[in-house]
Amino acid sequence: MGFPTHRPRRLRSNPALRRLTGETRLHVSDLVFPLFVDENLNVSTPIQAMPGQSSHPPAEIGRPAAVAFGAGIRAFLLFGVPRTKDAEGSAARHPENVVTKALTILRREFPEAVLITDVCLCAYTNHGHCGVLSANGEIMNDATLPLLGQMAVTHAQAGADLIAPSDMMDGRIQAIRADLDRSGFSHLPIMAYSAKYASSFYGPFREAAHSSPQAGDRKGYQMDPGNRREALIEMQLDHDEGADILMVKPALPYLDIIREARNRFSCPIAAYQVSGEYSMIRAAAANGWIDEQAAILESLVAIRRAGADLIITYFAPEVAPWITP
Ligand code: PBG
Repeated sequence: MGFPTHRPRRLRSNPALRRLTGETRLHVSDLVFPLFVDENLNVSTPIQAMPGQSSHPPAEIGRPAAVAFGAGIRAFLLFGVPRTKDAEGSAARHPENVVTKALTILRREFPEAVLITDVCLCAYTNHGHCGVLSANGEIMNDATLPLLGQMAVTHAQAGADLIAPSDMMDGRIQAIRADLDRSGFSHLPIMAYSAKYASSFYGPFREAAHSSPQAGDRKGYQMDPGNRREALIEMQLDHDEGADILMVKPALPYLDIIREARNRFSCPIAAYQVSGEYSMIRAAAANGWIDEQAAILESLVAIRRAGADLIITYFAPEVAPWITP
């Protein structure tokens, strides 16, 4: 066993042979495109920290969706920015909120699309935390759960296909599952942001979602980047509480976690290539330091190779023409 009998380069000798024997493929059908809907806007507005991405007023949301749909993208993840914020994030629970407005339009225009909604309070609270706060500023985990459940139900009623809680409160999957079931949506799946790390790579997103914490940080509920075993506990809990899809977020710095998730669970595993991952590639490419198309494809192939079944990426419509349907 070994050289000269074995020469791995034989299978690399031309592009067709490399394609034939390649291990990992990217498919447009595995990609999810995030969209920002902002009630404070009258026109679609570029996000400075995310070159190529924009926030959209609810009435305009059909436009970016149509472009992506035209490129073959069939799954969208909606983030809402409400006009008014308060301590409890009550705009999130109003039956007519920024996300339900966008859902209504998208449901009508793209009946066969998969419409996914982010469920979290941080864009709706005036303090910017993902849960409600006690008088002394502590996150009240259990008091947050029914608020998340009600938020999810408004999305379900407006036509969401998949609910994606990103708040990292303990017990949220169970609470949201119970509220959905009680409201007649036992058929609606949940994609849990299970292994969600307290990451610096969310920076550009927070500009778009206006969701930075006004005081403190998210380390009391999002995970420590150095923790691997804890991610497995989080995923097991969410799975046991009824999550249908488990997510790891961010993606590229956490490929080992994606692989662990793939090995341990049989349900679909999602990975979120977050805003900072996106903007780093854009910025380096804009400076001429890396080949943009190659870097985008390599990052996505690596996430797939690690074990992700579906990838949430801001590059979705852009990469679609470069890969297989
Ligand atoms: C809301 C939420 C965040 C992201 C997705 N949902 C921000 C955060 O937790 O601070 C980040 C997405 C991205 O960076 O692309 N909790």
